[in-house]
Amino acid sequence: MYLLKNQGITKFLNIFLICFGLTVLAHTANAQVDIAKGKELFSGNCASCHGVGDKAVVGPGLKGIHDRRNEAWLLKWVKNSSAVIASGDAYAVALYNQYGKAQMQSFPDLKDEDIKNILGYIKAEGDKPVATNVSVAGAPATSGSSEGGSGYNNVILTGMVVTLLLVLVTLSLVVSLLTKNLQHKELAEADKEVVNQKLDLESIFRSSAFLAVIGVFFFLVVAKAGIDKTMKIGKQTGYAPTQPISFSHKLHAGKYEINCQYCHTSVYKGKSANIPSVNICMNCHNAIKRTSPQIQKIYEAAEKNQPIQWIRVHNLPDLVYFNHSQHTVAGQIECTSCHGNIAQMEVVQQRSPLSMGWCIDCHRQTVVKSEGNVYYDKLMAAHKGSGGKEMKVKDIGGLECSKCHY
Ligand code: HEC
Ligand code: HEC
Ligand code: HEC
Ligand code: HEC
Ligand code: HEC
Ligand code: HEC
Repeated sequence: MYLLKNQGITKFLNIFLICFGLTVLAHTANAQVDIAKGKELFSGNCASCHGVGDKAVVGPGLKGIHDRRNEAWLLKWVKNSSAVIASGDAYAVALYNQYGKAQMQSFPDLKDEDIKNILGYIKAEGDKPVATNVSVAGAPATSGSSEGGSGYNNVILTGMVVTLLLVLVTLSLVVSLLTKNLQHKELAEADKEVVNQKLDLESIFRSSAFLAVIGVFFFLVVAKAGIDKTMKIGKQTGYAPTQPISFSHKLHAGKYEINCQYCHTSVYKGKSANIPSVNICMNCHNAIKRTSPQIQKIYEAAEKNQPIQWIRVHNLPDLVYFNHSQHTVAGQIECTSCHGNIAQMEVVQQRSPLSMGWCIDCHRQTVVKSEGNVYYDKLMAAHKGSGGKEMKVKDIGGLECSKCHY
């Protein structure tokens, strides 16, 4: 009886040892960066344009940069930011525009290791409580309350490590007590062996418990990578590039109430909503605000007979078929349902994720508008007849792959 318990405990102990080892390993992987070196590199290369707090200097304050971007992106960015912008990376383009197209210089000579040290230094500074930041910077604190998400993670991790340690200590105490106790008793040879057994590494590595722990660990790592990746799909909401001419929807569609269709002529007729040509602007601006530098740009384009190089905001991948008239006419969906209140936007911003889930959700929920549409009369009758309630888009095939995919 005693022995059975003892064996169970040893097994438990092994598992805890392994868990503990893994936790420590995960932590030391982070601790490898050289923060002192990072600080030196940061002062030499970055401090002229960046602070480590929230405040922007020439470039953004770098506090919390680890929550905004992953390491691979940061390495690429620091080595050659203009290449990242040129690749069309939405975040980079938006940031570049936000900082008035100020070019961050490239650092092709910094090694990955150097950049990781710099990032380690930024993180360490960001994790410091606000009070120390004040004494270092000699300036009033910009934010008194925000602690940052990474601070939370550290608290949780430390808590886990402490708990594991406590469990470990308690268990080893129990084991040594039991062993001592048993050694005073008369035991069979086989039992003695079990009581006196030492921690045997090889048997640990072979044990199914160890394999299970490793398996679970890898599963979690892979699952995390997978989740991170899917979370990124379609995360373009908020994309609002600066356009070559500061055209304002708030002014034109809002204040002057020009109809969307006046400019986006095919939005009720065809697949695409088309961006207006220079001619449409000229209808009014050959008379209105002639001397404005912004309007001069329209004249320039008209003279050279070249289109204005508007930057595209919404963009579905090529494999998707989306038709405006199907939604604006047949579906009677307002522009605002998908684009937000454009008439109040100074600069157009993408408000919907344009992900597959977004399309499908709406197709599941939205009732087909059939009033006055002869085509649907028979369908509706059939649908009602079959005991259905309202007819949703999904009921007319709105979830079929081939409807949306070429
Ligand atoms: C000459 C000024 C300048 C220097 C020097 C500079 N940066 Fe930048 N950095 C910028 C600007 C400006 C931006 C904003 C994006 C843009 O306009 O290209 C930026 C953006 C960034 C971003 C993205 C910030 C965010 O909020 O997403 C990171 C990270 C960054 N810089 C890191 C560094 C590091 C690390 C160094 C030093 C090795 C450095 N920068 C040196 C000007 C600079
Ligand atoms: C006077 C002409 C004009 C009117 C009226 C107008 N737009 Fe636009 N719209 C433009 C121009 C020019 C662009 C491209 C520049 C930009 O993105 O700001 C544009 C861009 C857009 C875009 C983003 C296109 C992209 O690149 O993905 C949307 C969405 C849009 N308009 C919706 C609307 C809606 C909705 C209305 C009515 C409430 C409207 N527009 C009224 C001229 C107009
Ligand atoms: C239906 C008439 C109409 C059309 C079409 C039109 N605009 Fe305008 N636009 C106006 C009016 C009205 C104003 C406001 C003038 C004022 O503030 O006195 C204006 C103002 C502007 C301004 C601000 C100018 C400034 O310096 O304040 C810009 C830029 C502009 N429009 C660009 C465009 C572009 C680009 C197009 C074509 C896509 C366009 N507009 C099409 C009527 C129009
Ligand atoms: C059911 C959602 C939905 C509605 C309703 C909708 N749009 Fe769009 N709009 C989109 C999507 C999705 C795109 C991106 C299309 C692409 O990339 O092929 C888009 C793109 C655009 C563009 C960029 C040019 C293009 O066609 O790619 C303009 C301009 C635009 N919409 C204007 C409008 C206007 C004006 C209305 C209202 C009359 C409207 N949209 C209603 C979803 C919608
Ligand atoms: C705001 C709600 C809404 C969103 C978002 C939306 N749709 Fe729709 N969609 C509708 C409605 C309503 C209809 C039915 C139109 C009709 O009556 O024919 C429809 C119909 C369609 C159809 C025709 C289906 C058929 O069986 O005839 C296609 C294809 C389609 N949508 C593609 C898309 C794609 C692709 C997206 C995402 C990029 C999207 N829709 C986003 C509401 C939406
Ligand atoms: C209502 C429209 C709609 C329907 C129905 C639909 N999709 Fe999609 N699908 C989309 C849109 C929009 C995207 C692009 C999402 C993005 O860019 O994030 C997409 C993306 C995808 C992708 C990802 C491609 C990539 O580049 O990552 C796959 C795979 C896919 N769809 C498969 C399917 C299959 C299989 C079905 C049928 C079960 C289906 N889709 C039905 C709208 C639809």
